[in-house]
Amino acid sequence: MFSCIKGKERTFRNFINGQWVSSVSEKFLEIFSPIDSTLVGKVPAMTKEEVDFAIKSASDAQKSWKNVPVNERAEILYKAADILVERIEELSDIMIREIAKDRKSAESEILRTADYIRFTADTAKNISGESIPGDSFPGFKRNKISVVTREPLGVVLAISPFNYPINLSASKIAPALVAGNSVVLKPATQGSLSALYLVKVFEQAGIPAGVLNTITGRGGEIGDYIVTHPQIDFINFTGSTEVGTRISRITSMVPLLMELGGKDAAIVLEDADLDLAASNIVAGGYSYSGQRCTAVKRILVMDKVADKLVEKVKEKIEKLILGNPLLEKDVNIVPLIDTKSADYVWELIEDAREKGAHLVIGGKRDGNMIYPTLFDNVTTDMRLAWEEPFGPVLPIIRVSSKDEAIEIANKSEYGLQAAVFTENINEAFYVADRLEVGTVQVNNKTERGPDHFPFLGVKASGIGTQGIRYSIESMSRPKATVINLVR
Ligand code: NAP
Ligand code: G3H
Repeated sequence: MFSCIKGKERTFRNFINGQWVSSVSEKFLEIFSPIDSTLVGKVPAMTKEEVDFAIKSASDAQKSWKNVPVNERAEILYKAADILVERIEELSDIMIREIAKDRKSAESEILRTADYIRFTADTAKNISGESIPGDSFPGFKRNKISVVTREPLGVVLAISPFNYPINLSASKIAPALVAGNSVVLKPATQGSLSALYLVKVFEQAGIPAGVLNTITGRGGEIGDYIVTHPQIDFINFTGSTEVGTRISRITSMVPLLMELGGKDAAIVLEDADLDLAASNIVAGGYSYSGQRCTAVKRILVMDKVADKLVEKVKEKIEKLILGNPLLEKDVNIVPLIDTKSADYVWELIEDAREKGAHLVIGGKRDGNMIYPTLFDNVTTDMRLAWEEPFGPVLPIIRVSSKDEAIEIANKSEYGLQAAVFTENINEAFYVADRLEVGTVQVNNKTERGPDHFPFLGVKASGIGTQGIRYSIESMSRPKATVINLVR
């Protein structure tokens, strides 16, 4: 059993300065399973003094970590990736119980994370600096050369969400560490058990004391304190637009990398392969019950093909498997993370129903299990047209032209991704060029991977760019040393 847990009650501890420690507060946050409300574990609610100590440990340790050769930092990452794969069963078990992810998705998250960590180590070893001759600028001669290398930023505060507790923690930790930063991880409370296991993996891989530390506690209680802590040099946050906006409002002079909410549109043009579009819409909209930032969250379809598309999407929704991820390996629809989230999705369903949207399928609820729901004839006065449910419900908005689809897509406050389905490359580029989003997928569902691609949101969907090389670059800065030759 991993040493991050103490006792039969599965009381987890935090990793600070190389030790697994509890809190003097003796206050614990209980983590109940979204599947059956059983207690999965407890994490300490840390005091401000303990937060201070964790961040100070990170700051002190970073001073020597930045001088560790990149190839040695990379070795630790390779080891962590191997251990992660060895622990796949144990880790998936905890993830399934903690966040109700189905086993197939939990295992694939872990394998993807191991690949992410290895690719990060490979990329860091291959990042090179540049030398810039001075004489390309008017008035300068060849005696001046700028040697540009990259420097770490210091202490990176990584704040991760519940839905990918391993992957969205590791995709902050690995690039930050390999760039020579130390890290303080504050995981989502629901998700913190999985994240603490991940940190245990890094410990076993040989991360030096203080280089990686954890903080547990409710974001609403300790969040403001940690994000405004004077020893934090960079914040890498993934979560809701609401919390992201708050962080950007209360921090000052600290660079931010944020991946926030989305309302990704799938735009289906008249000449689209409708079977391909329907498969992608259903896989993109309903996997893990739609609890993905990049889930397809609205369909904008041309009137002429709308009836056919609705029929095909409905047929595929009928084949989705609802169930208990503890009992079945391959379920698509699971209970939502908590009652508050289920209530919110239900409100959006009720609003669409009351305002006259046509319920094609679903619209049922059993506790926190929301049945996969599809509404047709959704109009722009309905909340479902604009709000992010983070649940298994999709609105179909019928449009009469591609320009109308583009206009509605761009009216959203969000700008994460969008998809366009068409057989005509010119039409694809016409639409893609006009969409105000970080990424447009042509003939595919919206999604983050592969993880070395740039991943970013515009407008209320984020600040900065992630993706392996992009994340390393975001969490480091250029350092210019100018050689002035005497000639
Ligand atoms: P959330 O409620 O915003 O929480 C995210 C993280 O922020 C958690 O660790 C949370 O801790 C912490 N937090 C809460 N209040 C805070 C505060 N005042 N200061 C600092 N940290 C605070 O988001 P979520 O419910 O976990 O995830 C769902 C949302 O995240 C959706 O909107 C989704 O679109 C977005 N998301 C975006 C991406 C992306 O890449 N664009 C990826 C995944 C999720 P506690 O758990 O302790 O409250
Ligand atoms: O939930 C947000 C994740 O960044 C989405 O990743 O597209 O691989 O599911 P994904």
